[in-house]
Amino acid sequence: MKVEMTRFMMAYKFAIDEVNTKINILKDEFTYIHDYNPIEHVKSRLKSPESLMKKVAKKGIPYSLQSIKDQVRDIAGIRITVSFISDIYEIRNMLANQKDITIVESKDYIQTPKPNGYQSLHLILQIPIFMSDREENVYVEIQIRTIAMDFWASLEHKIYYKYNKDIPEHLLTELKDAATKAMMLDKKMEQLNKEVNVLKHLDKETNSDEMIVKIDQDQFPIPMQLLEALMKN
Ligand code: GTP
Ligand code: MG
Repeated sequence: MKVEMTRFMMAYKFAIDEVNTKINILKDEFTYIHDYNPIEHVKSRLKSPESLMKKVAKKGIPYSLQSIKDQVRDIAGIRITVSFISDIYEIRNMLANQKDITIVESKDYIQTPKPNGYQSLHLILQIPIFMSDREENVYVEIQIRTIAMDFWASLEHKIYYKYNKDIPEHLLTELKDAATKAMMLDKKMEQLNKEVNVLKHLDKETNSDEMIVKIDQDQFPIPMQLLEALMKN
């Protein structure tokens, strides 16, 4: 049984290694081609056997490796933190376009945040793993979120466990408010980044120091200092 269980868990470890390699390639490629790396950090975890057994019991899943394999899809988990909301979907698309990856489930908690304010894009994907005597299709859960979403989620997680799931009402309200503010920050950063990219693009195109760039200062005022620095470089 122990040997079986070890083999079972090993497949998920390999799946994490495979997906991590893919993410690293995307990251390097992006850095070389676009001179920009959308990925801030990547964290992966293999569910511990104890937490796996807890989930199996809680969900009433039959105690067989086959049904656990079919029904517990977050044994291998990878969390990708990025700078901007648009990076989230770009990475989703880049993963989806890989021949050996199948996205079997997608939950967009950015379009539709959870009632507590939680935001992230959750994907369950399937990837083939080749071992000495067999090939297996393994599920991997991917969570993609911005730094602001990640910051919020880690604090919410701490609070959730500190109060043993019974969070005081005022904290729930404040957390929800913080989530809304995190969302506003993400949107603002995205908009600022877009404007900077337009400037960079125009700069490359005209290659002139005297370029005139029209910026909608009412919609999104850019500090004069930043603008000057951007024009200089
Ligand atoms: P599970 O059986 O628990 O996987 O239920 P599910 O498939 O409905 O879960 P979902 O895909 O919504 O979320 C799975 C994971 O996302 C969790 O294990 C957390 O890591 C994360 N997550 C989901 N909701 C929250 C939340 O409200 N707060 C935080 N901090 N993390 C969350
Ligand atoms: Mg899940």
